[in-house]
Amino acid sequence: MADLVSHPDEVKVVSKRFGQGAVNIDRYLELDGYKAVQKALTMQPDEIINLVKNSGLRGRGGAGFNTGLKWSFVPKQSAKPKYILCNGDESEPGTCKDRLIFEHDPHAIIEGVMIAGLAVGAQTGYIYVRGEYRYLLEIVQKAIADAYAKGFLGKNIFDSGKTFDIYWHGGAGAYEVGEESALMESLEGKRGIPRIRPPFPAVVGLWGGPTVINNAETLASVPHILLGGAEWYANLGSPKNGGTRLFCLSGNLNKPGVYELPMGYSLKKMIYEVGGGIPNGRKLKGVVPGGSSVAILTADEVNADVAMDFDAMLKAGSMLGSGGVVVLDDTACIVNFALRTIKFYKHESCGWCIPCREGTDWLQKTLIRFHSGGGVKKDIDNMYYLAENMLGRTFCPLGDAAAMPVIAFVKKFRQEFEDHLDGKPCPFAKHSGAQQSPVMA
Ligand SMILES: Cc1cc2nc3c(=O)[nH]c(=O)nc-3n(C[C@H](O)[C@H](O)[C@H](O)COP(=O)(O)O)c2cc1C
Repeated sequence: MADLVSHPDEVKVVSKRFGQGAVNIDRYLELDGYKAVQKALTMQPDEIINLVKNSGLRGRGGAGFNTGLKWSFVPKQSAKPKYILCNGDESEPGTCKDRLIFEHDPHAIIEGVMIAGLAVGAQTGYIYVRGEYRYLLEIVQKAIADAYAKGFLGKNIFDSGKTFDIYWHGGAGAYEVGEESALMESLEGKRGIPRIRPPFPAVVGLWGGPTVINNAETLASVPHILLGGAEWYANLGSPKNGGTRLFCLSGNLNKPGVYELPMGYSLKKMIYEVGGGIPNGRKLKGVVPGGSSVAILTADEVNADVAMDFDAMLKAGSMLGSGGVVVLDDTACIVNFALRTIKFYKHESCGWCIPCREGTDWLQKTLIRFHSGGGVKKDIDNMYYLAENMLGRTFCPLGDAAAMPVIAFVKKFRQEFEDHLDGKPCPFAKHSGAQQSPVMA
């Protein structure tokens, strides 16, 4: 069980039932549970979609697409069954928020899946849980069973005459299956590799049926929007970025943890106030603001005060991504950090597309040699161009996710790469305890 943290600036929407025992269905009912889905049952599908669209809820899985708009792409008529998939694969380094929702408020996810189903005319939902989150599967299984026992799932839900079924599925430990099309392959019992798009899942998804796939936090936000209204939710955040978000603060911080803050909250305040600042009087070197896939921001960029919403982050040259905010102090070696990052992507590349499979391998080989003192000057540009040539050339964005951070590390911290050149030892090794060998990574 993860410890809960709090800060006065938090606005608790998704996390409001954390620590309240809502994993128990009767307690969930006392805390307004299953009221939203009953409200949705009185609404027309388009009304639900418009409400969610106008709330400004954008996908919390990484890409930040407007959720209601995504739902509107599902065809009204379909010869094949439609599906709702809850993406709980949560494997992006630096991201640990969906696990808290599963742990403390699993019925909110079930309710969100049901409401999405009512909005698009689906009768079946799947909750896909990251393989390493075995302990959460028991919670999810029990929550689904309890909802069936109360008659909230199955035939004639809430005496509406409507049917809705939910199944759970555990992953097997692959980051790639968090990617929506690979997740569908995995659910169908196949190897978890991406599909070529178009067609997009909204039209041809799971078993060829129209499919909505949303992140667990996105879906857990939906019942609150149904009850609180679109305007209330939109006004919590910044323009076109409705609501709040669970931000996962980690790295060199005095008070790391998962905090729920309004969209558009200042990144600087997030680090120095909510996260309690950098330990031991150290200075900030950089921040990865949205999980390991996004471009690092330098201390100067952070101090210029960037708002944590999808649009402001894009403007600042990075992305809000999965909400994983990783803070590095001035003892961190960027070359070592780049190596650590690329090791993850090399390990997790599914191997389906050549630019990703080969690109991550060459980046890793180069960075291992480079960090251990065997670098030559042209390696720096080679890594940059290699990463640039991976961008946009793969079936899924895992290739981009590996390339974008490398491009930013080289561009923004070139001097650090140069300081490692010509057999010099890593100038930061004495601080970080890193050794001059590949094993440190
Ligand atoms: C390699 C890779 C891994 C991903 N992992 C996750 C994940 O663990 N959870 C998630 O919600 N989205 C993940 N995504 C994004 C999904 O493809 C998809 O955009 C998301 O589930 C859509 O939900 P949303 O609109 O609610 O954000 C990943 C994407 C890629 C390319």
